Amino acid sequence: MPEAKSKSAISIRDLQSFDDLKQAEAVEREVWGLSDLDTTPLTLAVAMQQTGSIWLGAFDGDKLAGFAFAFLGLERAQFIVHSHMLAVREPYRNLDLGYKLKLAQRERVLAMRANDSCIREITWTFDPLQSRNAHLNFSKLGVVSESHKADFYGPETSSVLHRNRTDRLWVKWPIASRRVQDRLQGKSNRAEVLDALSTVTPLIQFNGDGRPTRTDLSDALRRQRIAIEIPSDIAQVESKDPALALEWRLQTRWAFTESLQAGFFVAEFCRTVRGQQGPGVYLLEKGAIEEYVPELNRKPNSPR
Ligand SMILES: CC(C)(COP(=O)(O)OP(=O)(O)OC[C@H]1O[C@@H](n2cnc3c(N)ncnc32)[C@H](O)[C@@H]1OP(=O)(O)O)[C@@H](O)C(=O)NCCC(=O)NCCS
Repeated sequence: MPEAKSKSAISIRDLQSFDDLKQAEAVEREVWGLSDLDTTPLTLAVAMQQTGSIWLGAFDGDKLAGFAFAFLGLERAQFIVHSHMLAVREPYRNLDLGYKLKLAQRERVLAMRANDSCIREITWTFDPLQSRNAHLNFSKLGVVSESHKADFYGPETSSVLHRNRTDRLWVKWPIASRRVQDRLQGKSNRAEVLDALSTVTPLIQFNGDGRPTRTDLSDALRRQRIAIEIPSDIAQVESKDPALALEWRLQTRWAFTESLQAGFFVAEFCRTVRGQQGPGVYLLEKGAIEEYVPELNRKPNSPR
């Protein structure tokens, strides 16, 4: 029997019981296809839930359709919340559930207090070749990034989503910033971003046969903006042509590494440029990220 897929029937709430956490474990196994060793142990989930971690679920009746898990962390001597997992089961995708789970996570963090101080930043990582995640993170939520991590979880794990190396962009979500508030109010800046992109030759560009092509690095680094293109559906490339998927991985790794080291940060992502199935493109800006998002407010002398 097909599963229910009605947006209005789904509610977001904290995971409370042992059974809720067991359902999260099942969703984790289903979405990532993990081995036993790589799946979050239930004992750890229970302990983390009891010590202030945030476990949120999207429920269709009493059945879990997706969840988000985040824990308290320290980054450059400042408290942050790090979101480790966000997963929505396949039949429930593209119904805004991922977005709603992130909104609920933001609400929980805005309400947190630790020694009278508040937490204003949520971090997480995602695979920069995943156009869907890039769109959710940059366009819908308003994250920014100044860090790319090659093989973050090692060359591969048991996950079906980690077969093409495990590079990640480390993103920051400044949850109380004007940028994020605007994004959550649905203020789109797609026209501006497309405008900015129209003046830039991408450092990694789709060529006619779907392969990534490099353009001149020193020329790109002299400019104020850099663009990096990615396929609109890397999963399809991975299943049809793993060697081509790896080429995309290595070329984008090179482009992010070189540009971030040279003082750029990732400001935006625009999906499906050049037609419905066209590539997506990251827009990187030169300069300090806190000039772009003043609320990030880095401490003086702290490293990037
Ligand atoms: C990432 C994930 C949580 C998103 O869940 P979701 O409920 O489908 O997300 P939403 O519906 O809120 O948003 C998806 C957006 O991506 C868009 N999208 C779908 N496919 C896309 C693609 N190939 N390129 C660009 N955007 C795409 C959707 O149209 C939607 O945007 P819109 O609302 O502006 O139309 C889900 O796909 C998932 O579980 N993926 C596997 C695990 C994972 O990658 N987790 C996150 C990293 S840890």
